[in-house]
Amino acid sequence: MMKEELKTLFLFESLDDAKLDWLVEHGKVEHHPAGLVYAEGDDATCFYVMLSGTCALSRLVHGDDVETVRTEQRGVYAGATQAYLGAAVPQKYPNSLRAVTDCSFFVLPATEFGAMMRSWFPMAMHLMEGLFFGLRNTQTIIGERERLLALGSLSAGLTHELNNPAAAAVRATSVLRTRVAGMRHKLAMIADGRVDGTKLRHLVDLQEEAVKRVALAPALTPLQTSDAEDAVGDWLEEHDVTGAWDIGATLVAGGIDPEWLDAMAQTVGEENLEPAVRWITYTLDTELLMAEIEDSVARISGLVAAAKQYSQLDRAPYQTVDVHDLLKATLVMMNAKIPSGIKVVKEFDRSLPPIPAYAAELNQVWTNLIDNALGAMGQSGTLTIRTGRDGENVFVEVADTGHGIDPAIRPRIFEPFFTTKPVGEGTGLGLDISYRIVVNKHHGDIKVTSSPGDTTFRVLLPINPDA
Ligand SMILES: Nc1ncnc2c1ncn2[C@@H]1O[C@H](COP(=O)(O)OP(=O)(O)OP(=O)(O)O)[C@@H](O)[C@H]1O
Ligand SMILES: [Mg+2]
Repeated sequence: MMKEELKTLFLFESLDDAKLDWLVEHGKVEHHPAGLVYAEGDDATCFYVMLSGTCALSRLVHGDDVETVRTEQRGVYAGATQAYLGAAVPQKYPNSLRAVTDCSFFVLPATEFGAMMRSWFPMAMHLMEGLFFGLRNTQTIIGERERLLALGSLSAGLTHELNNPAAAAVRATSVLRTRVAGMRHKLAMIADGRVDGTKLRHLVDLQEEAVKRVALAPALTPLQTSDAEDAVGDWLEEHDVTGAWDIGATLVAGGIDPEWLDAMAQTVGEENLEPAVRWITYTLDTELLMAEIEDSVARISGLVAAAKQYSQLDRAPYQTVDVHDLLKATLVMMNAKIPSGIKVVKEFDRSLPPIPAYAAELNQVWTNLIDNALGAMGQSGTLTIRTGRDGENVFVEVADTGHGIDPAIRPRIFEPFFTTKPVGEGTGLGLDISYRIVVNKHHGDIKVTSSPGDTTFRVLLPINPDA
């Protein structure tokens, strides 16, 4: 009776008598009232074939139980479908099976089912195994390649960012060299006794004062600068100082105004005015050039520090980190990719505790989320990076004002290779990789809310992963 029934199921229809006998001997029929039959993640101990009723399969997607199939088709199967792979993969149920109405199933224990498949269909099993591991291997390789590509495009951006301050420092240094030579020349004139002692004392005092003014010089708008240069230029012309316009720009950058020049004229006397002005200009020039070199070099070491923080090359992979350090480094690394029409807003909760994490991999997550946000916004919009605490978790949000995620594709965005970008632009691995890093490696979660103009990805990371 049972044998006849098994024969009517599409899985078993071509089996010979001996095999059907084996099935009858090793399997049994189970009746399940409506409700859960097995849960995702439990040890996969049985293979189920539905004989009657309606059942549904579901998967946990970011904490939500999402139904993937619901069917009343006799012969559908579920459960330990990968038993044939044996210990090569973790034998856990990949989904949950629920009886929607009362159901009956033909049930085979997983170990027997696996051994049976291997001995009955050896060649098919080898092919399936090859396919399974091949696919998984390909995914890993592509994932790694993707990571390298991302790093490559970031380092291209970084090289570009490093070039500007480096070139500025080199330029400033060479100008500085000629200025210092000019100062030596002036020093020679002093040594020759062409400038008397008290005048020299005054000049040195003025010089000190001018240097202090450079440090305090307010940042002017272009309009204020040109007004100030006009005023200083006029003063110089009135006092017959040659090259007024050249000198004027330096004096203004150094925070010198006509009042200060009046005071100086009083101190040194009209007859010494021109050499005194030039002397002060030299001083300011060297001071400004040194400040420029200092800025450029500081910017370079800032970038290098960010690159180091981003790549975590010299750090332990798993360590206690402040997520803000990671976010800042990632933003610096991505700076070149952020269009000028995009406003970046940081809403950081500084009171967050540091958390144990795989820092370099989290940087990969921020990079992917920011990359997606930029992709959705195009040339203009607001990118908000927010942090805060959510119960026992730290959260990091990446929010954008882009076109949003169509509800129809929303359930699929975390799937590997799912992309809406044109061929060749997206691999569709960004969110898959991010999900695996956050959920599998950190036991955290990624949640998303989206409407046009407001999409937020929220990454939750446990503060005490061991608790
Ligand atoms: N912030 C967002 N706004 C709108 N859609 C998004 C956003 N983030 C992701 N998506 C959607 O999810 C899809 C999958 O994202 P995912 O990062 O996995 O791949 P991708 O960005 O397409 O490709 P890749 O990351 O390899 O460049 C995207 O193609 C896009 O349709
Ligand atoms: Mg992406």
